[in-house]
Amino acid sequence: RTHNVAVIPGDGIGTEVIGAGKKVLEALAKKNGDFTFNFEEFDWSSQRYLDQGQYIPEGGLEKLATFDAIYFGAVGSQQVPDHISLWELRLAICQGFDQYANVRPARVLPGVNSRLQHADKIDWVIIRENSEGEYSGNGGRVHRGLPDEVATEVSIFSRKGIERIHRFAFEMAQSRPRKQLTLVTKSNAQRHGMVLWDEIFFEVAKEYPDVSIDRELVDAVTTRMVLKPETLDVVVATNLHADILSDLAAALSGSLGIAPTANLNPERQFPSMFEPIHGSAFDIAGQGIANPVGSFWTAVMMLEHLGEQLAAERLMAAIERLTASGLQTKDLGGTATTHDVTLAICSDIESQ
Ligand code: NAI
Ligand code: MG
Repeated sequence: RTHNVAVIPGDGIGTEVIGAGKKVLEALAKKNGDFTFNFEEFDWSSQRYLDQGQYIPEGGLEKLATFDAIYFGAVGSQQVPDHISLWELRLAICQGFDQYANVRPARVLPGVNSRLQHADKIDWVIIRENSEGEYSGNGGRVHRGLPDEVATEVSIFSRKGIERIHRFAFEMAQSRPRKQLTLVTKSNAQRHGMVLWDEIFFEVAKEYPDVSIDRELVDAVTTRMVLKPETLDVVVATNLHADILSDLAAALSGSLGIAPTANLNPERQFPSMFEPIHGSAFDIAGQGIANPVGSFWTAVMMLEHLGEQLAAERLMAAIERLTASGLQTKDLGGTATTHDVTLAICSDIESQ
């Protein structure tokens, strides 16, 4: 089998960690022997935008649509406003390919120190609605620059959009040992869209009697994540809320440099996109010290999606041996470089 993977390293440390992830994937494919990767690299980055005025060239998405998966680094540059880089590249792909389910597992890997007490109890999957809600881009500004300027940022929540993400979350909860799903909204203060979220959740819940459910307001769930991590399993929340909760989850699990994400189009009409959750990290870009573990764990999710379960398990085990070995980058308190870590995991994979 050959898997055609589009690689978009993007900006900053995105290029460093995706380069590392590709090496690891090549080593794995070689070890497994029954599949190969056909990687095609796309230079869609802020540099391209500055040079040529576009992140994605004409016909780019049509081309991308022909791949089995997308392996993405990060986008963001000090030369381009963040709302432009995000919308022109990452969101253009997520929304263009209807990748409505964003999946973010969080767990403390062996040997990783979390500053949180009882962090070993963290074993969560955060499901983020990824196609509408607060990031619909709906709104505008009037009286620009004047003292009475007003801006609106109006969320859009559709029954269809809510129902499909809840159903996805229930399926995810059902597939895990604890079968528990927590609904997170803010339906006390926001009385339209959030109330609809709650209502549809309880409708869909009837189809999954074996999943135990509870609900929490988004502010309250942050304290629960810190104080009672063992009480959460799968969490479903809106685009904005889950964006914030998943960064918190990553930090509580040790470092932003470890956490992976899948942007899924569950119906597989379009390719899904896999990326570490971190950004381009201006402060450490170009120094060769970025933690590539997030891009490795991301590769595990991509392998699962491609149906390479054995290789996915092999890679996850190698990642855990790596973190347990104490060879760690600076964000985890170590002194190893991206290259050191990549070399170590590749030779571990080869020797297994
Ligand atoms: P960031 O994730 O790039 O960095 C936050 C902090 O975490 C920095 O101190 C950074 O050094 C550290 N960090 C992140 N990943 C790391 C890794 N792999 N190893 C070691 N340390 C790591 O977030 P920030 O600084 O808010 O954003 C920088 C740029 O990235 C902005 O332009 C932002 O818009 C963009 N961004 C892009 C994302 C994406 O493409 N999915 C996600 C988040 C931010
Ligand atoms: Mg975020």
